[in-house]
Amino acid sequence: MRHLIDIMELSTEEIQQLIDCAIDIIANPKKYAEACHGKKLATLFFEPSTRTRLSFEAAMYELGGNVLGFSEAQSSSASKGESVSDTVSVVSCYADVIAMRHPKEGAPLVASMKASIPVINAGDGGHNHPTQTLADLLTIYREKGRFENLTIGVCGDLKFGRTVHSLISAMSRYAGVKFVMISPEELRVPRYIISDVLEPNNIPYEEVRSLEKAMPELDILYMTRVQRERFFNEADYIRLKDTYILTPEKLRTAKADLNILHPLPRVNEISVAVDDDPRACYFKQALNGKYMRMALILKLLEVAV
Ligand code: NCD
Repeated sequence: MRHLIDIMELSTEEIQQLIDCAIDIIANPKKYAEACHGKKLATLFFEPSTRTRLSFEAAMYELGGNVLGFSEAQSSSASKGESVSDTVSVVSCYADVIAMRHPKEGAPLVASMKASIPVINAGDGGHNHPTQTLADLLTIYREKGRFENLTIGVCGDLKFGRTVHSLISAMSRYAGVKFVMISPEELRVPRYIISDVLEPNNIPYEEVRSLEKAMPELDILYMTRVQRERFFNEADYIRLKDTYILTPEKLRTAKADLNILHPLPRVNEISVAVDDDPRACYFKQALNGKYMRMALILKLLEVAV
């Protein structure tokens, strides 16, 4: 039995298989419409979500399966003091696969040790978010047709932004990839990403402050929200929240084939005036997330179509 807790548990070959499966689902949705008939996905969301939870649910419905779960800790027995381990032991009796989001780093890993069904990490604190990365990878693949030889700018809250951590890990396995990490000093990428991911793999990277200066060399610009809920004090959040606001003006020096990604939700780090720019990919990215979650569910449930 396989879980998905960290994106690095999937080899690059497996990522390619998931992408090929997602592309086949896009082309032939009917072929998959009953693939998970009689199967149930449990969505255990201890932290707010729109896209991740709803796209998991839509993914399971489009595979002909069913969904059960909760969307806030308050409405589960966690509010009575139940442990994550006990919750998943119980849910293992009712469902075939679990998607779990939790504010504590490592909670889905703990759940996977206890569960008798596959557990998917749908975001754990400021740590990882592997299925967002699957959405990001399909978006890059569909837009660029490759993962190699790309200069990727990640911009905003690189400290608490879990999607960035998973994306850097995943992309570090492709040749010719370079990262430009754009953030204020206080929100730099955690040291372990540099020491455990970038340096051992000899990946070229820069840590810079200015989005404007970085813009001309980027092939991908991955914007992120400042993660208010992970700050220890509101004053720091208020001071840092408007550091980067992408506007059409700032895109003037960008490549014509730049792709702008954002895991969403957006607060104000991308002006709505950018939405009409053909380089804006964030809504396509949200749709791609559903297809990759469909492919992942099929893989973990070992359903052959
Ligand atoms: C992200 C998350 O939850 O980490 N959202 C998502 O899943 N698409 C990004 C964010 O909340 O900023």
